Amino acid sequence: MAIQKVGVVGCGLMGSGIAQVSAQAGFPTTVCEVSPAVLEKGLGSIKKFLQGGVEKGKVAPYLMDKTLANLKGTARLEDLADCDIVVEAIVENLDAKRDLLGKLDAIVKPGATFASNTSSLSITEMAAFTKRPDRFIGLHFFNPVPLMKLVEVVRTVKTDATALQEANAWCLAIGKTVVSCGDSTGFVVNRLLVPYMIDAIRVFEEGLASRDDIDNAMKLGCGYPMGPLFLTDYVGLDTTASICQIMFDSFKEDRFKAPPLLTKMVAEGKFGRKSGKGFYDWSTNPPS
Ligand code: 3HC
Repeated sequence: MAIQKVGVVGCGLMGSGIAQVSAQAGFPTTVCEVSPAVLEKGLGSIKKFLQGGVEKGKVAPYLMDKTLANLKGTARLEDLADCDIVVEAIVENLDAKRDLLGKLDAIVKPGATFASNTSSLSITEMAAFTKRPDRFIGLHFFNPVPLMKLVEVVRTVKTDATALQEANAWCLAIGKTVVSCGDSTGFVVNRLLVPYMIDAIRVFEEGLASRDDIDNAMKLGCGYPMGPLFLTDYVGLDTTASICQIMFDSFKEDRFKAPPLLTKMVAEGKFGRKSGKGFYDWSTNPPS
């Protein structure tokens, strides 16, 4: 059964992006949030992104209208009952995911696929929270979702080949490139990216180079679009610290341990772009 109707749970940074690209590609998409107020905020960020795209000449005005017409917001999980795939993009907390997946399992039609956008939690463990572990996969999108081309498609030993094929086809239909990956903490990208980001923090902490020199070194020396400290701000210091913890718990390797400076900044509420302060000051444009 090809995927036609899409559900997304969570309309934060990642969920709103996933809902947007799905609706933009023509799939009727319902996005669910915990309350109408939180939902409004998420839908507002989708509209803002699309409007920005129109102003830059990257999104045709008709496409913006079409995307918004394909998109439905709700605060009721029941509205996802007839979706062919439901992608969860809620908080990275296993208890919260267990609670949500148990509810969704009872609501969403049999035969529909569940996907998690987790960046580091176990897909196998989450699949076991449902009665459909054969139709449970990881779909790891990247921030900003509308601009980043990749989705890591994660399978477990129980994943049904047809469910995987259908999810792959949907990812291609929404304009993404897929890489296929087994279920190991951090998959491919975060397994490589997180040690790089936190090594940059260690280099900064040691005083080896200034913030701007570290970021320029990697931008100009390696052709990366953002330096590692800027990227950590962009991803969120709290998110990075939490991924570090999950990866350290999983691999028990010191290279995944959060550096003291990262822990300190998170404790100070310096989460990066989302809180306005991190390695950069995000209250200015461009960040300074
Ligand atoms: N709608 C449509 N298109 C838009 C747009 C919008 N609202 N805003 C920008 N664009 C287009 C631009 O027109 C441009 O298109 P072009 O290349 O054809 O000219 C392109 O998108 C890039 O936009 P900008 O020129 O405005 O911005 P930059 O060139 O500075 O690129 C970026 C922005 C794509 C975010 C780039 O800096 C980048 O790739 N950064 C790295 C991001 C990254 O690494 N993300 C992964 C984080 S890790 C993660 O998510 C995993 C998690 O688990 C931690």
